[in-house]
Amino acid sequence: MEIHAPIADLRSALRNRGRVAFVPTMGNLHAGHISLMRQARAHADTVVASIFVNRLQFGPGEDFDKYPRTFQADCEKLEAAGVDVLFAPTEADLYPEPQQYMLEPPEIQGLLEGEFRPGHFRGVATVVLKLFNCVQPQAALFGKKDYQQLMVIRNMVRQLALPIEVVGGETVRAEDGLALSSRNGYLSSAERAEAPRLRREISRICDALRHGERDYARLEREAAASLDSHGWATDYVAVRQQADLLPPATPDAPLVVVAASRLGATRLIDNQEV
Ligand code: PAF
Repeated sequence: MEIHAPIADLRSALRNRGRVAFVPTMGNLHAGHISLMRQARAHADTVVASIFVNRLQFGPGEDFDKYPRTFQADCEKLEAAGVDVLFAPTEADLYPEPQQYMLEPPEIQGLLEGEFRPGHFRGVATVVLKLFNCVQPQAALFGKKDYQQLMVIRNMVRQLALPIEVVGGETVRAEDGLALSSRNGYLSSAERAEAPRLRREISRICDALRHGERDYARLEREAAASLDSHGWATDYVAVRQQADLLPPATPDAPLVVVAASRLGATRLIDNQEV
C-alpha cells in the first residue's frame, strides 16, 4: 500500500489509476471500516482510503484531542484489506491556512445530530468536499451508522453535481448488537455491557412500527425513558422519514429510527431502517 500526504503527491500517484473508489475515515479502524474497504474493490480499479481527524467537525468540549489515533495498526488493517493508496494528510497539508470557505448544508444540518452538535455537518461537508477534490474518486463509500452524515453527503453530491457515486455500507455490529464505532473504545467494561440497550430500544420501536403502531411520540418517549432509567442521558430517539429525516408526514412513508444517547462520557448513535 502506498501512503501519501501532501495533496500534490497524492494527485500524481493517482494519475492513470482507472476508476477510483474512496473511503474517507478518521482512523482507529474497525470491522465496519474494513467492510467498506472491501466493498470499495467492487466499484473500482484503485481503492483509496484516507485517515484524517478533522478538527472542523468537532465542537468545543468534544473529543477532538482524545480521539484515538492508531496510525500503525490502521495501516496494517488497510494493507490486509487490499487498499491500494492511503491518503494521510497532516493538518498543515489539508488546512495550510485557516479554512475560511466552508460548505453550509441546508436545514438538515440543524436536525437531530445537528441540534446537539451545532456546526458538525458544516465541518463534515467541508472536509469531505475537500477530500473529494484531492482524491477525485468516481465512487465513495460511507457507513450507514452515521445515517444523517450519509444523507448530508448524498445531498451535497447531488446538489453540486459532483460526478461521484455515493455508496452506503450496512452497519457492522458486535455479536450483542452494538454498532461498531471508534468511540466504543471509550466505554468502561460495565458501560460496554450496557451499551447494546441502545440497539435493543431502537429494534423494539421498529417492531412496533411493523405491527402498525403509529403513536411515534409515545414510542420515542418510552425508549428514551427506558435508556435514562438505566443510566443513559438521551439526546434523542426519533422516528423519521428515510427520505429527509423529517417527522413522518404520511402513514406509509419509509421510516428510520435514529437515536443518540450518552453512557457516562461516551456519546453513542445508532439507527435502523423499518
Ligand atoms: O465518518 C467519519 O469518519 C468522518 O465524519 C468523515 C466522513 C471521515 C469526515 O471527517
